[in-house]
Amino acid sequence: MYQFFGQMLPCVCVLLLAASTLGLQDEATLDAQWEEWKLTHRKEYNGLDEEGMRRAIWVKNMRMIEAHNQEAALGLHSYELGMNHLGDMTSEEVVDKMTGLQVPLNRERNFTMVMDDKQPRPPKSIDYRRKGMVTPVKNQGSCGSCWAFSAVGALEGQLAKKTGRLVDLSPQNLVDCDVKSSGCKGGYMTTAFRYVQRNGGIDSEAAYPYVGKDQRCRYCWSGRAAQCKGFVEIPRGCERLLAVALYKVGPISVGIDASQSSFQFYQSGVYSDPGCNRAKINHAVLAVGYGVTASGKKYWIVKNSWSESWGDKGYILMARERRNLCGIADLASYPIM
Ligand SMILES: *[C@@H]1O[C@H](CO)[C@@H](O)[C@H](O)[C@H]1NC(C)=O
Repeated sequence: MYQFFGQMLPCVCVLLLAASTLGLQDEATLDAQWEEWKLTHRKEYNGLDEEGMRRAIWVKNMRMIEAHNQEAALGLHSYELGMNHLGDMTSEEVVDKMTGLQVPLNRERNFTMVMDDKQPRPPKSIDYRRKGMVTPVKNQGSCGSCWAFSAVGALEGQLAKKTGRLVDLSPQNLVDCDVKSSGCKGGYMTTAFRYVQRNGGIDSEAAYPYVGKDQRCRYCWSGRAAQCKGFVEIPRGCERLLAVALYKVGPISVGIDASQSSFQFYQSGVYSDPGCNRAKINHAVLAVGYGVTASGKKYWIVKNSWSESWGDKGYILMARERRNLCGIADLASYPIM
């Protein structure tokens, strides 16, 4: 032991020195964590002013995450948070740059799905990732194209169900060509399904790669990988029918409120923040299944488009049958293929 400490002496001295002034050790640890975080996520800033501002936001987020996880360890929350690549952004900035669900004022409706005795009783759990109907998690970047990723995810599911082939479809095709939506400034899933129907198809990701910026429409018939015959909307707020739709159809496009910083830094467990507001739905994602934990907590399995570094490898489990948490059953729809 003595020998070990002897070898470590210079290091220990530095630490003791730092700790001699109150809070300094904490500062040194934070500094090291900040440098490591910047390295991990390849962050570069324009000068010290910007870095100082970003670091202040990051510190605030770090403290919030630590406090939440301490409460979670005491059993006060059903989910844990973790630092990720969004660490230097406020929740307002995340909503501003990385969501983009916009419900059109005069949109076509199609509520043909009804709750009646004929509806099948869905099983206890479903996970379409295990059935080869869900493509890898994507990253929309700083473009409000969540709606396009959500729509493409639902189309990919139907394509796999119909043909047995799992093909990445092109959200950029929708961003550039669906004139009823506003590209990176936002859009909606049912208008995207309608676009694919009227256009006679949607290109594959390989034929029409994602760039995360508004461009001129470059749809090309030869790159077409799927078609669409229409869409169906789940009656507003009906979680039971959302489960039936998942069971009968496949992955379903849904809208949620993603404005809480708890959502920004979700990492594991069943997400349930009382501040999540169904009157403020701003983000489109894809429901790919549902289930229930060993302790009886029901959840939806949700695929996001903020890369695999967000959440649980790009996914989040969101509380199910908790009074339509985050409005998950309010703007749900699927394409007919
Ligand atoms: C509405 O839904 C029904 C199936 O429930 C479908 O046959 C029809 O084509 C849909 N209409 C549109 C406009 O998508």
